[in-house]
Amino acid sequence: MDLAKNEALRMLANRLQDDLTLPLRESNLVFGEGDIDAQVLFIGEAPGMNENLQKRPFVGRGGQLLNKMLEHIGWRREQVYITNIVKRRPPDNRDPFPEEIAAYKPYLTEQIRIINPKIIVTLGRFAMNYFLPMAKITRDQGKAFQLQGKLLVPILHPAAALRGNEAMAMFRASFEKLPLIIKKRESLIAEAASKNQAKDETSIQEKLF
Ligand code: URA
Repeated sequence: MDLAKNEALRMLANRLQDDLTLPLRESNLVFGEGDIDAQVLFIGEAPGMNENLQKRPFVGRGGQLLNKMLEHIGWRREQVYITNIVKRRPPDNRDPFPEEIAAYKPYLTEQIRIINPKIIVTLGRFAMNYFLPMAKITRDQGKAFQLQGKLLVPILHPAAALRGNEAMAMFRASFEKLPLIIKKRESLIAEAASKNQAKDETSIQEKLF
């Protein structure tokens, strides 16, 4: 394990804990967990009831599905890093407000900088739109986008997948693409760069797959 990274993340978590200006402070801090050297970073929306109790991301029903899908593609939860855009539970599991997402943004930005994953997988519409404001979840989930030298892959939220067979099939199919995306990462980035797609939002959203 990279000790400097570990220390940087520990200090970041302390700063988050001590920041009295942040909203939702009545809930516990759920910083994130996993391999800090992971190639793949999963980012969800915000902790729910179980996550708030255990202070760990994705430990409820959605988390069980996430674990199952990771196993399905031959990965283990411990091999990836998992966090959320908002680090504390909104009351009654309501959607996070834009100002809550904005308040936690500097911390997520720093967390991503430290972990420095090659691929970011967003779970659900809020995490996707955090990076790609114009993207639409049903249209864009399962595609790979280039984003500042990384690949970003939006996937449905596990809770959405649990709501119906069609969503579950989409969720599974997108997971099944992940190992291939990792394998093809270099060529996907080169392909995007050669089309000069790096700069503006439309180009970032160019479908690579
Ligand atoms: N839903 C999320 O978006 N994140 C969690 O950690 C749990 C449920």
